[in-house]
Amino acid sequence: MWLSNSSIGRKVVMSVTGVALILFLTFHMSMNLVALFSEDAYNMVCEFLGANWYALVATVALAALFVIHIIYAFWLTMLNRKARGSERYAVSEKPKTVEWASQNMLVLGLVVILGLVLHFANFWYKMQFAEIIGDHYLGEFGPTDGAAYIAYTFASPVYVILYLVWLVALWFHLTHGFWSAMQTFGWNNKIWFERWKVISNVYATLLVLGFALVVVVYFFKSLCC
Ligand code: HEM
Repeated sequence: MWLSNSSIGRKVVMSVTGVALILFLTFHMSMNLVALFSEDAYNMVCEFLGANWYALVATVALAALFVIHIIYAFWLTMLNRKARGSERYAVSEKPKTVEWASQNMLVLGLVVILGLVLHFANFWYKMQFAEIIGDHYLGEFGPTDGAAYIAYTFASPVYVILYLVWLVALWFHLTHGFWSAMQTFGWNNKIWFERWKVISNVYATLLVLGFALVVVVYFFKSLCC
């Protein structure tokens, strides 16, 4: 099949799943910002997106996108290394224009996955999973009290640092990933080559700043209130 047999087909799969994951992140970040304005409103959204059938369907679809994206990432990296043979060790011969992020996408992706494991333990397990198994208290608060979990998690400087490191890795991964996806879709004439680079940087920065804002605001709130 074209999507798995050809190099461009595999890149299309990476790009489509990557863009879909960016759309999820955009929704997730916007939803988190609600907590800064009204914790009651944020908890209402958490309740709406709890363990209802539509939220579970979305979670399964999201997990599938994620798994496909990761499997293809390893597969593409392996094939690229095979194709390049020992050449990949000739560091000094790499073109100067090849950015650091583009050469470290797999490592950056692995840091993103590690952060996600921690994030699931902090939030998903105590919230959606707790609801799925019948509204048990698996954490410190009720399964729909998202605002309390945010306040609790980011009162800890250790979690604040871990989340900020995670977000920096995500920023590097997204800046290159988004731009790279646009190249794969063929939107890469002379003008758009540079334009997509700027758009990717701006979009990834806004996305990551939105997530980081919630972390930092809740940390300072915990110091003063
Ligand atoms: C740093 C600020 C963040 C906060 C405060 C936050 C908060 C939350 C909360 C409260 C939930 C549980 C929602 C529920 O089960 O009702 C959740 C789930 C989730 N978060 Fe985050 N999140 C943050 C960043 C991120 C980032 C950067 C990613 C991805 C790289 C991410 C990916 C996810 C995923 C995949 C889920 C599970 C979604 C689902 O169950 O369908 N989050 N997050």
